[in-house]
Amino acid sequence: MLVLGIESSCDETAAAVVSDGSEMLSNVIASQIAIHGRYGGVVPEIASRKHMEAIIPAAQQALDNAGVSMSDIEGIAATKGPGLVGSLLVGLSAAKAMAFAADIPFVGVNHIEGHIAAIFLTENKPDFPFIALVVSGGHTHIYLVRGFGDFQILGQTRDDAAGEAFDKAARMLDLGYPGGVVIDRLAKEGNPSAIPFPRAMKGSVDFSFSGLKTSLLNYMKGREKPITTGEMPDLVASYQEAIVDVLVDKTLTAAEDASVPRVVVCGGVASNGRLRERFLEGGKRAGIEIFVPPPVLCTDNAAMIAVVGNNLLCNGRRDGLDLNAVSRWPLD
Ligand code: KG4
Ligand code: ZN
Repeated sequence: MLVLGIESSCDETAAAVVSDGSEMLSNVIASQIAIHGRYGGVVPEIASRKHMEAIIPAAQQALDNAGVSMSDIEGIAATKGPGLVGSLLVGLSAAKAMAFAADIPFVGVNHIEGHIAAIFLTENKPDFPFIALVVSGGHTHIYLVRGFGDFQILGQTRDDAAGEAFDKAARMLDLGYPGGVVIDRLAKEGNPSAIPFPRAMKGSVDFSFSGLKTSLLNYMKGREKPITTGEMPDLVASYQEAIVDVLVDKTLTAAEDASVPRVVVCGGVASNGRLRERFLEGGKRAGIEIFVPPPVLCTDNAAMIAVVGNNLLCNGRRDGLDLNAVSRWPLD
């Protein structure tokens, strides 16, 4: 089955064609980073307008890149939530209109389920059940995944998401947006043990990153001189290590506690080089197999939405053209 996926929950306008929920024929991502970068974060109103300009060209490009036309597509899947409602509505409305015009079924998909499902586009697919760590700009959640659509939440952040911890630190340090990418790059030249930032909520599978952010602020305030360019790598490497440490420790502990020796790491933060490295090391030591999609499938994309859509459509799910976007949509 050929499914056209559409994703517009935040600042990427994305469209992709996926065959049988496992083979990616195209994956088009029109990023708005350059526009929002000027404001230090995503401006929802601008995001909606940019999605409107980009959505049809992105869908056409996805068909062209896959070497197919609309008449080959058997179903359309679009992100219904969670995300920015104005942004979601653009992708959802375009998907509904295309499905109506082509007289093919349409389904709305949960963005977080999409992040988890991205792993099924890779060669090495995990068996169910597995543990999933979803780390993005809005989520830091550990799930037990028993099957498609069958999730049990094991742990989550009490305040900021891991991606927010990266983005807010980058803003405080005037490093630009999105923070995760800049910190990842700068940290490669730094010493992760240079500054002892706190690791919160030891002994629990829940997370908290607001204390870490405050600790960075206090570190900056406590200095007599501004941080120099030369000092930045050690500072961000230490800050990043505090985030990575808790993500790896708690996720592997959750897998051990549940006696599930498979962990999927996904969401934008899963493209972080140090996080990937530390998960692979930790997994090897603990006898837990680690599955991480390539970076392009960790950050927002529509191929992951098409994978979930394919599964829903194969199970007979059909959504009406009155389906609405939702800003919050817990997975379990
Ligand atoms: O999944 P995603 O693309 O969008 C959401 O659903 O939120 O995740 C975006 C988040 C941002 O906070 C961004 O800073 C972070 O992922 N991110 C990274 C990296 N690339 C993106 N964080 C750490 N290291 C990276 N290389
Ligand atoms: Zn996302």
